Parts: sequence; structure tokens; C-alpha cells
Amino acid sequence: MKIAVLPGDGIGPEIVAQAAKVLEALRSDGLKIEMEYAHIGGAGYDAAGDSLPDATLKLSQQSDAVLLGAVGGYQYDTLPRPMRPEQGLLRIRKGLGLFANLRPAMVYPELVNASSLKPELVSGLDIMILRELTGDIYFGQPRGIRTLDNGEQQGFDTMLYSESEIRRVAHVGFQIALKRGKKLCSVDKANVLDTSMFWREIVTEVAKEYPAVELSHMYVDNAAMQLVRAPKQFDVILTGNIFGDILSDEASMLTGSIGMLPSASLDANNKGLYEPCHGSAPDIAGKDIANPLATILSVAMMMRYTFAREDIAQRIETAVRKTLQQGLRTADIAEAGMQKIGCAAMGGAVVAAL
Ligand code: IPM
Ligand code: MG
Repeated sequence: MKIAVLPGDGIGPEIVAQAAKVLEALRSDGLKIEMEYAHIGGAGYDAAGDSLPDATLKLSQQSDAVLLGAVGGYQYDTLPRPMRPEQGLLRIRKGLGLFANLRPAMVYPELVNASSLKPELVSGLDIMILRELTGDIYFGQPRGIRTLDNGEQQGFDTMLYSESEIRRVAHVGFQIALKRGKKLCSVDKANVLDTSMFWREIVTEVAKEYPAVELSHMYVDNAAMQLVRAPKQFDVILTGNIFGDILSDEASMLTGSIGMLPSASLDANNKGLYEPCHGSAPDIAGKDIANPLATILSVAMMMRYTFAREDIAQRIETAVRKTLQQGLRTADIAEAGMQKIGCAAMGGAVVAAL
């Protein structure tokens, strides 16, 4: 298992260090794991003047899987856009062809009270958001800021999806639904956007190949409401890049904390990049208070999807469950009166439980 490790910025290095401890524990248990580190994001800019240095992309292409922390920091906010840390993340997703982004929102029984919603609304919640990751308004051309004839400036982006892009991610969605509750809700804005009308048409066509899966369609504004009104109605949510970005942050709060949400970004051959859904949280970086569980759970997803080791994936997830059962909490998931532990202690507890 050759894994490229890209800690990135902010809390990235701290949380990745805990996930690396888990990988090292598995290695001393006999798994053939090889880890090689490289820079991305602001760290890439500092080291090589590029948020995705060539060496990092090359290493990632040559590895079976990539483990990534987070990118971004205040000190980079004034850089011109091509230099920004976020560009490194977008470029590695595109460069590796990682079009299928799986963001599972699961509520652990131990964290039911950490959710901002009532326990009965979220207890037992288990949603898989499948976000298309290499198309849409994120990558559409043309884009930019231009000056109109009357001298006024205008910002513009292009939303677009080609048929093949929609088809391939729809297939992934139906395949995932087949292995779960067999319900797929495609989220779009087909009442307004041509891109979405086309998306809906293609998804409906692909659905014919999956008669066992119940397909529904929902407008994104309604989906945003339904997620906080009755989230358990969803099984798999299939959506485009920008809607998936927004809805997955929203769904994370159902689980108690965005610090609990792992993700997998897969190409057509299940090669993948694994990262927590949260960002680099520069305000708490270096303080040893970040929650490393989303990153550790991303390693579990890596074992499941890239290495087809469901047994190890479950072992990691069980270890996380155990630490929660022991009452161990980082600040973001602690209830009033509970003892809080730091990032490194949480990582250590998971390794011990493993
Ligand atoms: C995410 C993040 C990224 C995105 C940013 C950091 C570019 O919000 O992974 O959801 O918009 O995709
Ligand atoms: Mg996001």
C-alpha cells in the first residue's frame, strides 16, 4: 500500500500525524504500508512557490492512495488566485481524475446530543452524499473578471456538465445505492438552470439500468431544507460539485461536528484521495485541540475503497467507536461537563483501541 501523505496547512499536520499513527500501528501489525510525505496548499507555496508542486502531483500519481490534511491559511488570502492554497486542492482532484467524492454523514449513538438538531431527528442517521468533484462551475470556462463597454466591471463563471461527466458519476451513485438502502435522490436546480435540466435527463436515463434503485429528484433549495427538517428520509444523495460542497457542510452538522466527517475522492479505478471534509481551521492550528477523527475515519475509507480491505476499515471504525464509548471527546464534540482531550491524545486513544 503506497500512500502519499500531504499534511497541508493549518491543523492539517496535526490531524494527519494522528492518522499516520493509525497507519503505523497497522504496519507494525503486518500490513505492507509505505508512506511518503509531500507539500500541498500554502505549504507547497512556501516550499516550492506552487500550491501543487510537480513533485507532489508526481508522487500522488505514483501512489495507490493519497492522504490529505487540509489547505488554506490567513497568510495566503491576499495571494493572486492561481497561487492560493485552494487551487492546489482543486488541481490535484482534477489532475488525478477524482470525479466521485463520497461524503458519508453518520451519527454515532454516542454523539447524538452533540448534533445541533433534536436527537430523535438524527439518531441512527446514515446518509451518503456523492458529490461530483471535477466539473461544474468549479472548473467551467470561461471565467474571470472583465470590464464591460460602459466601464463597469463584472465577475463571471460558467456552470457546465457534459453527458459523460454526469453518466459516470450517476453510475457510481446507483452502485453505492445498491449496496445500501437502494434509494438515490438526485439534487439539482432544474427549475432554473439548463445545466440541471440536462443533469436530470441523464440521471433519469442511467436509472433505467438500475431498476432495483428508487430514484427521486429534488431541487437543491428544498434539499437544504429537508436535510434539517427530516434528514433520515435520505439514503444516497447524488449531486454536482457546487451543490455537493454546500450540502455536505450542512449535513456535517447533523452528525455533531464537521470534525467527524471523512471523505473519499475516487477515480474510475478506485484510486483515491482521502481527506476530512473540514478545512484547515487556522484559528485553532498548533493548539492541539483539533479533532483528528475525520482524518482517521478517512483512512478507514481508504482501506475500504482503494485497498478493498473492509475488515481493516471496520477495525478502524470500531476503534473510533470505542474511544467515543470511553467518553473521550475533543472540544468540538464534548458536551457540557465532559472532560476534553487534545488532538494527539485522541489519536493515541484510537491507536490503543485498535
Ligand atoms: C471542500 C472545500 C473545498 C471545495 C475548498 C477548500 C476548495 O470546501 O472540500 O468541500 O470547495 O471543494
Ligand atoms: Mg466545502
